[in-house]
Amino acid sequence: MTIPVMRPWLGEEEAEAAAEAVRSGWVAQGPRVAEFEAAFAAATGTEHAIAVSSCTTALHLALVGAGVGAGDEVVVPSLSFIATANAARYVGATPVFADVEPATQNLTATTVEPVLTPATRAVIVVDQGGTPADLDSLRALCEPRGIAVVEDAACAIGATYQGKPAGSGAAFAAFSFHPRKVITTGEGGMVTVRDAEVAARLRRLREHGMNVSAAERHASRQPILEQYTEVGFNYRMTDVQAAVGLVQLRKLDAVVARRRELAARYRALLSDLPGLRTAADPAYGTSNFQSFWVLLPGDFPVSRDDLLRELAEAGVSARRGIMASHLEPAYAGHPHAPLPVTERLTARSLILPLFHQMTAAEQDVVVAAVRAAAGADPTEYPNGFADLDPVEAGRT
Ligand SMILES: Cc1ncc(COP(=O)(O)O)c(C=O)c1O
Repeated sequence: MTIPVMRPWLGEEEAEAAAEAVRSGWVAQGPRVAEFEAAFAAATGTEHAIAVSSCTTALHLALVGAGVGAGDEVVVPSLSFIATANAARYVGATPVFADVEPATQNLTATTVEPVLTPATRAVIVVDQGGTPADLDSLRALCEPRGIAVVEDAACAIGATYQGKPAGSGAAFAAFSFHPRKVITTGEGGMVTVRDAEVAARLRRLREHGMNVSAAERHASRQPILEQYTEVGFNYRMTDVQAAVGLVQLRKLDAVVARRRELAARYRALLSDLPGLRTAADPAYGTSNFQSFWVLLPGDFPVSRDDLLRELAEAGVSARRGIMASHLEPAYAGHPHAPLPVTERLTARSLILPLFHQMTAAEQDVVVAAVRAAAGADPTEYPNGFADLDPVEAGRT
């Protein structure tokens, strides 16, 4: 048995929706993309949602929309998927790595302030692993200085911040629909924007800077001669992807509820291991537990990499924790301030399997392997943990 780190929750409904898009004859960006954007905006409490080909391209457009360019600095966490830092490079800006706060693995006003300079034009704040960042304090730090705050909510759809959906109220937020995320369109992303004019510009930019969309031209009875207002990109999502996304979006609440149930059970079953820390809700919001990370204490009996190997031998496909971009060859020689928390988290954390269809029996295999490595009884949980709600298998 191999227990995957993630398995998307896809079924016949998504297959049928994709097939219908194909049968309709309209497979590129069209009516289903528009419908998906409207549904997504409603689900995330945002006014303008622009579907794109990935979260990476969403981040690129967000920085263009924020007016970031050559000579500017963009503060980013090194502790993130490398696309966060790369987005700054795409607009010719310099990514400046800031350290993170260990409980959430996110940037905070305290970690960002020391790296701000007169050249700082934007901060990309990641809701790491689906745990919302404390955006209010970051906005209070940045906005009076004219620094744009871009929320990298790649992992965070369905999480909440101050009682509202992650991304709502953001000047710019970027989401991912990669299959490792809680809902998927295969590949795909969404950029949400507060300002109507900026939204209109980003809509054009994702489609080569055209002032009229292909769908509008097709719908018109008169020939429309389009114009290319500025140099744009092909960052479009297809209608086949959007058809799948519409079905996935309807499942969002169920997916998040189940992930939270499984995360709570992990936390309980591992809670007696000394010094072990796990992903948790912050005081100001709720996580969707897109990634369930575990941070090993310095005196854990085995190394993180040995634990990954032991899990693999037990049939469990876990992953190292969040990467640190500044340690990758792509950023070799890139200057940065000391990043001690980032380096500790990336070296000592791992991500355990968590997916909608996961059963209690599968989760018990993972827990037993971690407990055995910790030198604890693998299956005899203290404090009655074994009596926890067994968690029914998710609907497939
Ligand atoms: C924080 C973060 N930002 C950006 C991305 C890039 O997303 P995509 O694969 O949709 O481009 C990811 C993907 O893992 C991510 O985790």
